[in-house]
This record gives sequence, structure tokens and C-alpha cells, in this order.
Amino acid sequence: MKNNHLKLKNNIFHVENINLELLANKMGTPLYVYSRAAIKDSWNRYAKAILNKNCLICYGMKANSNLAILKEFSELGSGFDIVSGGELERALAIGANPQKIVFSGVGKQEWEIIYALKSGIKCFNIESEAELHKISDIASNLHITAPISIRVNPDVDAKTHPYISTGLKENKFGISIKNALNCYKTASKLPFIDIVGIDCHIGSQLTEIPPFIDALDKLIPLIKELIKNNISIKHLDIGGGLGITYKDEVIPDPKQIIDSVILKLKESNLDHLELILEPGRSLIGNCGILLTKVIYIKHSEDRNFVIVDAAMNDLLRPALYQSYHEVKPVAPRTGNAKEYDVVGPICESADWLAKNRLLNVQENDLLIIESAGAYCTTMSSNYNSRVRPAEVIVDDCKYYIIKNRENLSDILKLETTI
Ligand code: LLP
Repeated sequence: MKNNHLKLKNNIFHVENINLELLANKMGTPLYVYSRAAIKDSWNRYAKAILNKNCLICYGMKANSNLAILKEFSELGSGFDIVSGGELERALAIGANPQKIVFSGVGKQEWEIIYALKSGIKCFNIESEAELHKISDIASNLHITAPISIRVNPDVDAKTHPYISTGLKENKFGISIKNALNCYKTASKLPFIDIVGIDCHIGSQLTEIPPFIDALDKLIPLIKELIKNNISIKHLDIGGGLGITYKDEVIPDPKQIIDSVILKLKESNLDHLELILEPGRSLIGNCGILLTKVIYIKHSEDRNFVIVDAAMNDLLRPALYQSYHEVKPVAPRTGNAKEYDVVGPICESADWLAKNRLLNVQENDLLIIESAGAYCTTMSSNYNSRVRPAEVIVDDCKYYIIKNRENLSDILKLETTI
């Protein structure tokens, strides 16, 4: 955890004041451990940046949608960016204000649109003309006006991993900047459609500000065109995407981005617009770790392996994006370290969590996989019929179980033989 909530005391790592060795003994491993203080700290970075500004943060819950975490953000004042009926169900389950929910995603289905319309969400971020017509039809049938914004694909390079880049014209997301005006014109003629905003999201794990500004530079002329065409909007949503430090990345503070965007809007006489942001990773990524135990040490001819009880089903990011997560022993040993690959028990060569790490470890040692708050538990699966881990939140010297470990009957219970 790069937020100073992971501390070495008497040679044992603690999250806040919880000793991770004792926690692992009580809860078992693999185990996701979040810090409540870290969550509050990362929220406060955004809260400070938007103080006295016409700005709404809608936490991109796909990063981590555990109910306890959603409730924490909701109580801190956050709205939510959702991408499915399931995520809407989660937001409503913790009592989120529907007027602070925006609904993104390229494949909204009929039941999800009905559910969102009936719940009274703030806005649908529309990603295609076909979706606009689907929402319009459903809204007319229900006699409920649908608030919409168009997600514009500005064709800018977010300079991130290609799998998490979304604002290039070859990506499936949004409506191209050149077709957006026409789409707005079409929308303005539909009786049960209320145009309220403009939206974009260019990618994830962005480490610099210029791509956000490049996107804005494309959006501002479009907003001016809308005004010329008597299409008025109330908000500009610049999506999420701010990165976190996994290794040594230097990440701008949210305030730098928010200030730069607001300055640009002022210069363009558009500062009456409400600014919406949809951060996911930067709110939760460095608030959590994955705790795992060494099962075996294996030396082969040209590599050493630490085989642990967590695997790609618990943390898919390295397999999918070759991503880096810091690994630390819970109780560091003195003596010589060796270079190891940290791998899981799954029958795939892609099942690795870290490569070429200098470690001094033995069987049964506990390891910390850092930066596991975002896109880890939400991307987990039951591959190899492995049960998904438990999750806890630490608050000073107490911890709360926020998800129980699955058991084998859980993973069999929806299946039958014929
Ligand atoms: N808004 C929209 C429309 C999005 O598609 C996303 C993320 C976000 C907001 C939140 O973005 P963030 O602030 O977290 O970067 N699984 C990948 C990340 C995929 C991001 C997908 N969209 C990973 O593990 O790196």
C-alpha cells in the first residue's frame, strides 16, 4: 500500500494497527485486506480538489464494488459510475442517491435501461446511435424522460496499455467526434430524451495530464457547436483514468487535473458546466493488498519459483496486462535473497503474480501483493474450481469481514447433472 497504511512494526507488516501474521492465522489466505484510513485519504485528495467547485465525483465501481467499500464512498459524498444492472443493484443496495449515478457501457440491455429509468439515475452515457434509439423507445413506452449525455470518442492516445486504452478511434467505445454532433441533433428531436451532458473516458492508468487536456481540446469545439445549434448541456464528464503508483510511476494529484480542466473551461467560457469525474483505480487501488502464503519453493534449472496460494483467478492483472505488483514478505528475513518468479497453483503458464523478484522466503511464509484494491477482486473467477478469497477492512486496530470466503458448495450450487 503506497499510502503509508502498511507499516513494519517489530519486523512484521501491519495494515494500520493490525498484524498481518495474526490476521492471516485467523482469516486464512489468500485474503484481501483494505485500509479504511487509506480509503478516506484517497477520497480526501479528490474532496480537496473539488472543494467549492461545481464538481461531482462518481466512483467507477468496476474497480471494486464490495458493498462496504461502496457504502464508505457514498457516505463520503461520492456518486457512482455504473456499467451494468448488477452495479446499479449494488449502488441502490447501499442507499446511494440515484441522482448521483451515471450509467456507462456499450451494451446496455433492455432490462438494465428499464431498471435505471425507473430508479431515476442522473444520466445515461450513450455509446452508439442504436443505443440512443433503444433508450428513446423504452423511455417513450414507460413515459419516463431519459437524461442522456453522449460519450464522445475523441481519438486521443492515452499512452497506456492497449487493453485499457479506450479513447482511440479503433476502440469500441463512444461515438466518434465527427458523428457526435449529428447524434446530438437526432437526440434533440426525441420526445422522451433530455440531453444533459457530454462525456468521454480515454483510458485507465494514465500517468500524465496532457491526454486529458488533448481530449478536452477536442470536446470544447464540439460543445461550442452544440450551443450554436441550441443544444444546451449542463455537465461535462471527463471519465476516470488517473493512475496509481504500482512500482515507481509518478502520478499527478487529482487537483492538478481538476484545476487544469477548470482553467480550460474558464478560458472557453464554459465554466458554468458541472464537472463530473469517474475515478476508480485512483480511489481504491492503493488501499488494498492481497495476502498470500507460500506453499512450495521450487528450483528448476534456470528459474526459482515461489508457489503461493493466490493465483490468476484472484489477481488476473499480471496475466492479462503483464502488470507489476510489488511483493513483500510479511515478516522479512535477514540473509541472502534469490531471484524468484511468484506463481499460483493454476494450470496455466500465464498464472504468475510477479517475475524476477529478489526474495528471501521459505515454505509457509506470508507475502503481501501490493496495489490490489482495484480490478483484483472484481476480476476474480472460480477457474480451476478455486474458491474466491475473503475480504476484510481494517480500521485502526479492528478489522471487519466484508466478504466471506466462498466454500466448495458455493461454487457447485448452481450446477446440476442431467
Ligand atoms: N469510466 C469508464 C467509462 C470506464 O470505462 C472506466 C474504466 C472508469 C470510468 C474508471 O477508470 P479508472 O479511474 O479506474 O482508470 N481492468 C483494467 C482497467 C480497466 C478499466 C476499464 N474502465 C486494469 O486492471 O487495469
